[in-house]
Amino acid sequence: MFTEAFPNEEKPLSFKNITYAIAAFERELITPSRFDNYLKGDENALSSEEKKGLKTYMDVGCTTCHAGALLGGNMYQKFGLFGDYWEYTNSSEIDEGRMMVTKNEADKYLFKVPSLRNIDKTYPFFHDGSVEKLDNAVRIMAKVELNKDLSDIETKEIVAFLASLTGEAPAIAK
Ligand code: HEC
Repeated sequence: MFTEAFPNEEKPLSFKNITYAIAAFERELITPSRFDNYLKGDENALSSEEKKGLKTYMDVGCTTCHAGALLGGNMYQKFGLFGDYWEYTNSSEIDEGRMMVTKNEADKYLFKVPSLRNIDKTYPFFHDGSVEKLDNAVRIMAKVELNKDLSDIETKEIVAFLASLTGEAPAIAK
């Protein structure tokens, strides 16, 4: 397969070519969604409820952590800036997060901020899968990360927006 993929090379199966091949594979692993069409300028790609949800998502500050092309995935943050997360998630065990790996006290309760792409399809939520429903996960986030109580309508709109991040899995991954 390497000979085929890298013709005219004396040693197609090289470390460099393996990195190229893996990178080319990984670039296929994207799930374009309606939100991407919206970003590209198609204003009708989102419903008015989803647009309101996007606005609330930005206004309350979810974007402080869940930002960038993946809406997350690029930093560690403490889970529980305003209270102990397990009080809200009913986690059966208290996981101290990144500190368990680094042994550094400053990393206590730090978790990777996950991408929110396809979040509507990937329950249960959080590192321990302690929360089943997306609306509940969103409420908990607002409370323990931003110290905000979302109304039922705000929560519903954010959940609607998050569902617009669901995309098609590439054929290669099916
Ligand atoms: C201070 C940073 C921060 C802010 C602000 C924040 N989050 Fe999070 N979010 C996190 C971290 C860290 C996790 C991972 C927690 C875990 O794994 O237990 C997470 C997890 C999530 C999850 C679960 C993801 C999964 O795959 O299980 C959802 C949904 C979510 N956040 C939505 C939101 C929404 C909506 C807002 C705004 C109301 C928000 N977050 C604000 C840091 C943040």
